[in-house]
Amino acid sequence: MSRFWSQVVHGLTPYVPGEQPKLGNLVKLNTNENPYGPGLRVLEALRAEAADSLRLYPDPNSERLRQAIAEYHDIELANIFVGNGSDEILAHAFHALLKHDLPILFPDITYSFYPVYCGLYGIEYIEVPLTGSFEICVNDYLRPNGGIVFPNPNAPTGRALALSEIERLLRANPDSVVVVDEAYVDFGAESCVSLVKRFPQLLVTHTLSKSRSLAGLRVGYAVGNAELIEALDRVKDSFNSYPLGRPAQAGATAAMQDRAYFESTCRKVIGTREKLVASLQSLGFEVLPSAANFVLTRHPQYDGKELTAKLRERSIIVRHFSKPERIAPFMRVTIGTDVQCAALVDALADILRKPV
Ligand SMILES: Cc1ncc(COP(=O)(O)O)c(C=O)c1O
Repeated sequence: MSRFWSQVVHGLTPYVPGEQPKLGNLVKLNTNENPYGPGLRVLEALRAEAADSLRLYPDPNSERLRQAIAEYHDIELANIFVGNGSDEILAHAFHALLKHDLPILFPDITYSFYPVYCGLYGIEYIEVPLTGSFEICVNDYLRPNGGIVFPNPNAPTGRALALSEIERLLRANPDSVVVVDEAYVDFGAESCVSLVKRFPQLLVTHTLSKSRSLAGLRVGYAVGNAELIEALDRVKDSFNSYPLGRPAQAGATAAMQDRAYFESTCRKVIGTREKLVASLQSLGFEVLPSAANFVLTRHPQYDGKELTAKLRERSIIVRHFSKPERIAPFMRVTIGTDVQCAALVDALADILRKPV
């Protein structure tokens, strides 16, 4: 606390990101990064930007990148917004589109940045409980609201909502903005980008941090009706006109264009996930069905926090959430390579062999 702080700062409860350890020899399964690095085309594009042109500001509208994204989704340029990670885009969306008279709705167990944005922008919200099996139930969102936001698949549960259910939600909420955060959609859920042409209130956010192996570059994008995109542009241009540097624009453009590499890494991560789920189950773990690059899992005899600590002693880091209470018994495990996941399974088997 300081007397120099603006009033708003006193009331902020910032988001706490997962640990980025300084030690190199850890099996890092805690922040949902891709275990495979970016493809060669991306690396070449990045190298080409390490040039004299860095003295010049980048394109403020990231037109080439937006064009590549528009082509990928078969949609118009005017429907695409890009930002410095999807976190920045979500922040702009909360600011530009979700602050109205009524509280917004999001699940009680979800991405923990959402209440942080509400705190930052003074937005009222209601946390809608997931079902007993940790699913989003659309019927619970059929009530007056100032907007709706949720990830699909949800995080940190990994559970996905069917496209038909999202469409039902949109039909029932024609007058409020619905933000679907598709950070993990490429690992097995149905994208609702195809609904953007029919539902002007839908904004879909994506990130290049997960399925496109570029967490270190900080690039995300949103797809939505041109009116929604204009609102985001207005906020962006009142905040930072150049959110993406030249390397970020070039690397992200190459990543969007290299479909073959993207598809092959997604397939590998999904294959490893299926093997990991089977191994965890054979050790007696309950694993929530996941359409993401992580699983939420618990063991009947062990507390999630304790297991996380025991794994850490064995140089494996996974993520534990002590809140909300309902997920405290679980740990969230990012899908790594086959070798990393095998190391995790061996470590867990070893922990379980020892008396509680
Ligand atoms: C559900 C969800 N949305 C958005 C993000 C933000 O991703 P980024 O800012 O790296 O694009 C994350 C990151 O972990 C996430 O889990």
